[in-house]
Amino acid sequence: MARVKQPRTKIMRRWRSNMEVRQDKAYTERLQTLSEGSVRRNFSPYVDIDWDDPAFEVIPNDPRWVLTNSDPIGRHPWYRAQPLEKQIEIGMWRQANVAKVGLHFESILMRGMLGYVFWNPNGSPEYRYCLHETIEEGNHTLMFQEMVNHIGMDVPGMPRMLKWVSPFVPLAAQPLPGLFFFGVLAGEEPIDHLQKSILREGSELHPIMERVMAIHVAEEARHISFAHEFLERRVPLMRRGPRFVLSLFVPITMRVLCSAITKPPKAFWREFDIPRSVKKDIFFKSPEARQMLSDVFGDVRMLCHDTGLMNPLARLVWKLCRISGDASRYRSEPNRAHLPIEARPLAPMATADAVESIPA
Ligand SMILES: [Fe+2]
Ligand SMILES: [Fe+2]
Repeated sequence: MARVKQPRTKIMRRWRSNMEVRQDKAYTERLQTLSEGSVRRNFSPYVDIDWDDPAFEVIPNDPRWVLTNSDPIGRHPWYRAQPLEKQIEIGMWRQANVAKVGLHFESILMRGMLGYVFWNPNGSPEYRYCLHETIEEGNHTLMFQEMVNHIGMDVPGMPRMLKWVSPFVPLAAQPLPGLFFFGVLAGEEPIDHLQKSILREGSELHPIMERVMAIHVAEEARHISFAHEFLERRVPLMRRGPRFVLSLFVPITMRVLCSAITKPPKAFWREFDIPRSVKKDIFFKSPEARQMLSDVFGDVRMLCHDTGLMNPLARLVWKLCRISGDASRYRSEPNRAHLPIEARPLAPMATADAVESIPA
């Protein structure tokens, strides 16, 4: 049988051998479990969501679009003091934009993953799992776009600057998979954190939001597990110099992407005439906002500890980026330093008709 030609340079040999993972039995088994999970439990945006169901209709003045206390904007006193109509309008814009940002981010992720597996050797369990994940992300982008279309707000998604940079980000997946998969976590952790806290809070949500978030959270758990597995195996194989550089880039990547995902773009603040001081307070001057920033990345800090990426300089960069804090003791550990979230009082309805028009 003809053998695949060996690369000539040391760097290329190292790059290729890092992609040969079959000798690592434990890692291979974990990927097998994740792949089987993808086959057993997956969702289709047009089978598992009945978009034509009257209960999914988007109607005017529906208070189920009011942002919950788990959303940093929703819990701010300025937002809560607004008339109900404005809270609803802001809520619809905000939730549509988070979905649009999610689909922009997932489009980058899919391109990068396909680039990474392009060079995977035959029989690679990484190839199979990454393709399952890419297909799931493709379905998520369809689901998010359908949600945006239903809400009917013409939202821009990611900040313009990131949109311009987006074609170059997936190119990092082949030469720098460590950095790329940390980027994946930087996008997945904040969206997952936000959606899980909204679902846990138990406020009444519009069925579109509830269904979309439940599907997304279920599949995202697997995606986050894979990124952790990949990095736990790959980072310790890196040489000291590149690993040190990576340790400094990780907190910066986390902070930049977290801001891009959670903070609405300029158009939002203009459209709703939101004071600058409120914007600053929400992102990220208030103690609640700082706590949220720190909470989101507990699992990533644990990963950095476990893979030797928490040296004194890296710790300082985590602090400067304002995302430092305790590392989780295990993945998805509930936050230990939670600020209490009160139940959300709804502002009085402007018109009684609006209440009656909400389907049961
Ligand atoms: Fe996703
Ligand atoms: Fe994902």
